[in-house]
Amino acid sequence: MAQTTLFSKSEIDRRVAEMGAEITRDLAGSELIALCVLKGAMFFCSDLMRHIAFDVALDFIQVSSYGDQKTSSGVVTLLKEPQLDMRGKSVLIVEDIIDSGLSMNEVFRYIKLDRGAREVRTATFLDKPTARKVPFKADYVGFSIDPKFVIGYGLDYAEKYRNVPDIQVLGD
Ligand code: PRP
Repeated sequence: MAQTTLFSKSEIDRRVAEMGAEITRDLAGSELIALCVLKGAMFFCSDLMRHIAFDVALDFIQVSSYGDQKTSSGVVTLLKEPQLDMRGKSVLIVEDIIDSGLSMNEVFRYIKLDRGAREVRTATFLDKPTARKVPFKADYVGFSIDPKFVIGYGLDYAEKYRNVPDIQVLGD
């Protein structure tokens, strides 16, 4: 399949550094947990955390909405729950991409209501605002993009391409 580069490694690095600086300005002084949404956000979360200039705890959650297909299944399943106690804490949910909004909506609801976080913020590296099935607006967005299928920097197609260093558009 043909692939074209949408964001290079250096563009990614620059934008993630800006996002880390913004989060540092906004949330310094809070007892913050970065909650990485596996698997795709692993690369972004790892980079973003190193650009946050205060102490941040780390935890993981895994949900599934895609399976092996290019389109969302519409069903969000909790595959792995976080280990840390989130009651009364600030949690920054870190995603690689928001598409239909179903995954982020469910993770947000779960962390706020079921896990009792005091404050929940959301950061996504990529956003496809025109692809929403449910409304969701992230607090921190790396890049807004058209609803094309993208891979790399953690994003996969049928578990391939996650380790591509830049973001590429997957052609037909
Ligand atoms: C992808 C992506 C987001 C979600 C976004 O995860 O990483 O979590 O889908 O889509 P949505 O807004 O339509 O819900 P996926 O379930 O494919 O798991 P992965 O991160 O392990 O690839």
